[in-house]
Amino acid sequence: MKRTIGLSIAVCAALGFALNGVAAERDASLCCGTKACAMCHKKDDVGNQFAKWQASPHAKAIETLGTAESKAMAAKVGVTDPQKSGKCLKCHSTAYNFTEELQVKAVGDAPAKIVVEDAVTCESCHGPGKNYKAKAVMLDRAQCIANGMVYPATKSCTLCHNEQSPAWKADRYTTKDGKKVGFDVEQAYEKIKHPDPAVKK
Ligand code: HEC
Ligand code: HEC
Ligand code: HEC
Ligand code: HEC
Repeated sequence: MKRTIGLSIAVCAALGFALNGVAAERDASLCCGTKACAMCHKKDDVGNQFAKWQASPHAKAIETLGTAESKAMAAKVGVTDPQKSGKCLKCHSTAYNFTEELQVKAVGDAPAKIVVEDAVTCESCHGPGKNYKAKAVMLDRAQCIANGMVYPATKSCTLCHNEQSPAWKADRYTTKDGKKVGFDVEQAYEKIKHPDPAVKK
């Protein structure tokens, strides 16, 4: 019993650290936007990750914030316009990078590489890509990781898929052994996966 408690404290501490440390660890200024990834990831023979992402709920996360359902949900926490509030955008937009403040802005004449309307993009899951998107790096997983890629990207899911989501349903998923849970990474991944036939597991 004592051991279990000790373990859960350790797990909570690790999670707390991950959540607080996330902004620093994932420097938003290194985000390069879906168009940059699409340059190499939109052909059918490599799995067209770009099209799969566009068809996924993540690409529509800003649109969703405009619905009547969304506004009603927001009103309960004192937010009038969910499409403008960091309280919603921290998880619905990569440009907010898990914080309540817009992180990726235009600098002088240089337009922002990621805008709020892009919703939840590749880089919220895979990490900011500026330093790993060169082809020579991309071909080598160890180098990708050394240059900021989050691997496996399933480590990112629960930064947003957690009880802080006002849409959280504690029984959204049913596990293999019949337990009801709010999020199940394996089943959720099945719904959004975009494999490249050439990538080794
Ligand atoms: C210059 C072309 C190019 C660009 C730009 C690019 N990639 Fe890649 N990416 C590749 C290639 C090539 C592979 C390796 C595929 C293979 O092994 O056959 C790859 C592999 C990957 C993998 C799998 C890594 C692994 O080892 O499992 C991920 C994830 C990925 N890219 C994400 C991204 C993201 C996100 C972006 C944008 C930030 C991006 N890529 C931009 C060419 C590119
Ligand atoms: C930056 C925040 C963020 C991250 C990281 C994230 N998601 Fe999501 N996800 C969302 C939001 C926001 C929605 C709701 C989008 C909508 O309906 O407009 C969503 C919706 C979904 C849905 C549809 C709802 C459901 O549960 O059936 C699935 C499936 C999903 N995400 C899977 C994943 C998986 C798997 C990962 C990790 C690999 C992940 N997400 C990472 C924010 C995120
Ligand atoms: C902690 C991250 C997080 C925050 C903060 C957040 N959302 Fe979401 N939102 C999600 C995720 C993840 C989903 C996908 C469903 C789920 O698993 O909760 C989602 C889904 C939704 C949906 C779709 C309903 C559904 O059941 O799929 C609506 C509407 C929504 N959010 C509105 C909002 C509003 C309005 C705010 C701000 C008041 C907000 N969200 C703040 C993460 C978040
Ligand atoms: C919701 C989170 C999420 C988003 C958004 C997302 N991915 Fe992924 N992606 C994953 C996960 C999880 C995997 C499985 C491998 C891993 O865990 O890293 C994956 C795998 C890949 C792979 C390797 C394919 C393979 O067979 O393993 C490539 C390439 C890739 N993603 C590119 C992209 C690109 C490009 C975008 C944006 C257009 C994108 N992803 C958006 C979560 C995401």
